[in-house]
Amino acid sequence: MEVLIFDNEADVSSYAARIFSKLMRRKPDAVLGFATGSTPEPMYAEMRRQHTEESLDFGRVTTFNLDEYVGLAADDRNSYHYYMWKVLFDHVNVRSDRINIPDGMSNDVPATCDDYEKRIQAAGGIDLQVLGVGGDGHIGFNEPTSSLASRTRIRTLTQKTREDNARFFGAVSDVPRHCITMGIGTIMDAREIVLLAFGERKANAIRQVVEGPISAMCPATVLQLHAKATVLIDKGAASRLRLKEYYKEVAANKPDWQRV
Ligand code: GLP
Repeated sequence: MEVLIFDNEADVSSYAARIFSKLMRRKPDAVLGFATGSTPEPMYAEMRRQHTEESLDFGRVTTFNLDEYVGLAADDRNSYHYYMWKVLFDHVNVRSDRINIPDGMSNDVPATCDDYEKRIQAAGGIDLQVLGVGGDGHIGFNEPTSSLASRTRIRTLTQKTREDNARFFGAVSDVPRHCITMGIGTIMDAREIVLLAFGERKANAIRQVVEGPISAMCPATVLQLHAKATVLIDKGAASRLRLKEYYKEVAANKPDWQRV
């Protein structure tokens, strides 16, 4: 696992956007895995800028989002559909028939989940997946104790996640209890993964992800088993890492060919 520590959110976000744009220029029909939450927002802003100012082309990409709330329609302001159109899809030339987000309004959730897995496979698998991380180490909506081999399925949100996300809804009671999320096994199948985290409120999770034992109690720790996972964090999120100085030394002395 590569760990890169930046001075601030803006530097993390532009580096993450560069990882995406480098792939998209090398492979214009890349399959991109997107995430929601406040963490990737500045990265999407940077992608919008690169689209407008540097002709970053989304015309042939396919996208898959990690998750969606059950019971929220695409036009609900709190749905992840709504979020993705607002922060990215409305502003770039991505084809709407190549956008994939789990359907939170499905009448047949198991069939929808099965179909999502098949669509990922049919697209050739995800080339690059971005992740945020919950304070408890969840990725997508794979809460603690999720099977590390899980596939796309319905999950029940923990009280902590509902409380964390209540800021978008107004009240905890308005946050849906269920979601559809790519499984941890689904996420791990991506050829490359970048995980972003900002601020001290994520420092405990990041310490576990990078230096802790692999455990379903902190699902993001599974990334230690991924051959190409990069953790991009600011100083706050890095504040509890034991080998912080070593990660900085590695980054400072990277050979040029390894730089993005
Ligand atoms: C939600 C999303 C996750 C996200 C997490 C953290 O639970 N399903 O994908 O990583 O929130 O959100 P934030 O980035 O707002 O801290």
